[in-house]
Amino acid sequence: MKKICPEWLKSAVFYEIYPSSFFDSNGDGIGDLPGIIAKLDYLTDLGVNALWLNPCFASTFADGGYDISDYRQVAPRYGSNDDLVRLFREAEKRNIKICLDLVAGHTSTEHQWFKESAKAEKNAYSNYYIWNNSWLESTGGLSMVSGMAERDGSFMNNYFTVQPALNYGFANPDPAFSWQLPVDHPDVLKVREEIKNIIRFYLDLGAAGFRCDLAPSLVKKDPGKIQTMAIWREFREMIDAEYPEAVLISEWAYAPQALKAGFHCDFLLHCGTPGYTTLFRNEPKRDLWRGIDKSAFYEKDGNDYTVKNTNSYFDAAGLGDAEFFFRTYLDHYERTKNDGFISIPTGDHDMTRISDFRDERDLACIFAFILTMPGVPFIYYGDEIGMRNIPGLVSKEGGYTRTQARTPMQWDESRNAGFSTAAKEKLYLPVDSAPDAPNVAEQQKRPGSLWHKVKELLKLRSDHKALQADGEFELLLADYPLIYIRSKGDERILTVIQPARRDWQCSIALPQGMEKLSALLETGIAAEISDGKLTFSGNGGTHFGIWKING
Ligand code: NOJ
Repeated sequence: MKKICPEWLKSAVFYEIYPSSFFDSNGDGIGDLPGIIAKLDYLTDLGVNALWLNPCFASTFADGGYDISDYRQVAPRYGSNDDLVRLFREAEKRNIKICLDLVAGHTSTEHQWFKESAKAEKNAYSNYYIWNNSWLESTGGLSMVSGMAERDGSFMNNYFTVQPALNYGFANPDPAFSWQLPVDHPDVLKVREEIKNIIRFYLDLGAAGFRCDLAPSLVKKDPGKIQTMAIWREFREMIDAEYPEAVLISEWAYAPQALKAGFHCDFLLHCGTPGYTTLFRNEPKRDLWRGIDKSAFYEKDGNDYTVKNTNSYFDAAGLGDAEFFFRTYLDHYERTKNDGFISIPTGDHDMTRISDFRDERDLACIFAFILTMPGVPFIYYGDEIGMRNIPGLVSKEGGYTRTQARTPMQWDESRNAGFSTAAKEKLYLPVDSAPDAPNVAEQQKRPGSLWHKVKELLKLRSDHKALQADGEFELLLADYPLIYIRSKGDERILTVIQPARRDWQCSIALPQGMEKLSALLETGIAAEISDGKLTFSGNGGTHFGIWKING
């Protein structure tokens, strides 16, 4: 069988850190790399073994660091390149892998390449970005930006106006526009080499791999993403040959393409935000833990926001539809399981946090699901304590509505929740000021807290290979409850998740070869085998159970 990933990825559980908001070590109000080093023991104690850091490079911070002005330099506000190397070393001592964020689709307009490219006279960088021949010329239906350079032309942006698209060429250049270069034009091939060298630069320093931003965006006018996939496969071949322990994780949100493009994992973002839910658009009540339509999620009432129930599967109301989710999931899983992994994140810096409208019990069910599913799970910082969205904040560094999920980590009850010693006004973003705002120290002290549940689930996943990325998956029931089996070798583990808050009972045909169940976690769910049937029941609901089969 082909090797689909480095061995370490199979047992990896990632923790995403938004560096500005994790821990401020020097009292300037902004999180930094030494701050992450100071919290590595916390992460080991929790039980995660891999980190994804959002971009921590020199940036104009018009888009939270996704507008890079120097790929090879750590942003001064986060520390120095030496701090990053120290972070890699300290993490390695604790068996923690660190993946950085590779923004291959665009730079900042302040990047030296762009400044050169924007000059009137032709130079080595003129074609590093996509410019038409004159500001008066048609853009060929593409969204382009004019008026920002001495060069006579408009450039194509990849996201915000200040994020010019790097030039990987056009899959089918329109002969009417000579500036649409083919993917094998020598100038655009240079851009690929630049990115490969950036990958090498950080893998040489000690990074374990990359989460790749907007991965499908490279080649323009690329139906079926054929040419974009070919470029990523080229990057993967380079990695396999030169850095076989490194991994590539895509923000593609369509595993059947991404995993064929050479990524080891692809994020399943469509149980997430509406922006990514092309598959499920106009299909209310069908996602797992977020509302489909943002307008249905928040109702603005003066300066306040009221959260409305969205009836996603993990809402205690029990009105969601898991079957709909699994129809697509199973199709993608079966088509891709020999290529790589589908990664389910609790959330990320672009989504609302999962905690709206939920208490610790509801959230524990979501964690039980994520940490027993196939693939490589990702936990967004603070989700392990149920940190909340802070709606209504003024947009910070291009965050807009995303700002609400980027507030400082809540460590304890001290000033600024232990995030920073800076004056309140100097903080990157305000700390959740609710009297009952969750914090790590309180939850560590309280047995049965969400933090303890997450830790227990992480330990269970780490102790049982059947629960890890490549364990087989068999869905027995996609309803209230959800029932599935994970297996690897002789080990078989059954999970039941009942997010609905009600008394319940449910019987299914006894799975083949099952004789007894031994609980791996205290459950609150009763399991009974009789007359060829397997029956589960529980009072009150909103709980989960995990059993070893015949163990
Ligand atoms: C996706 C990133 O997650 C997001 O934060 C960023 O704004 C865009 N890509 C553009 O780089």
